Amino acid sequence: MKAGVITVSDKGYAGLREDTSGPLIKEMLKEINCEVVEYIIVPDEKEDIKRELIRMSDLDLDLIFTTGGTGFSKRDVTPEATLEVLERLAPGIPEAMRLRSLQITPKAMLSRGVAGIRKNSIIINLPGSAKAVKEHLEVVLPVLTHGVEILR
Ligand code: MTE
Repeated sequence: MKAGVITVSDKGYAGLREDTSGPLIKEMLKEINCEVVEYIIVPDEKEDIKRELIRMSDLDLDLIFTTGGTGFSKRDVTPEATLEVLERLAPGIPEAMRLRSLQITPKAMLSRGVAGIRKNSIIINLPGSAKAVKEHLEVVLPVLTHGVEILR
């Protein structure tokens, strides 16, 4: 399987913060034999996020993850950008991730992430922190291979 990772962060884009979440996703995907072939950092701008989601799904990647920009701050627009490019929703994915995450922290309800399908790609929003990325990805990793197989 092939994947793309889009880190959404004003500070990361400006070089003011090192992105640890993007590389963590790359590392964790190895567990399901999935290689990250596209990785980019964009600012919290809807058009930039949409452009990359469209570009990566046009490349026929199996999985596309965003990390960051799912919270309540005024600049957080990752779910809105994602909803504008999705052709079909997959609400069970964020439901499962939040259900599990709520057992760890009530703040999990503050992540507004969505998931769905564009063309042959499954797109999943993850929160920004590496801790949250790990806690979310652990939940969905075991089912992603099956999801990709059905979509193909
Ligand atoms: N989910 C898990 N599993 N673990 C966490 O630490 N942090 C929460 C939430 N989801 C967290 C989590 C917090 S504090 C916020 S603000 C939201 O994710 C949104 O994060 P983002 O704006 O970086 O995307």
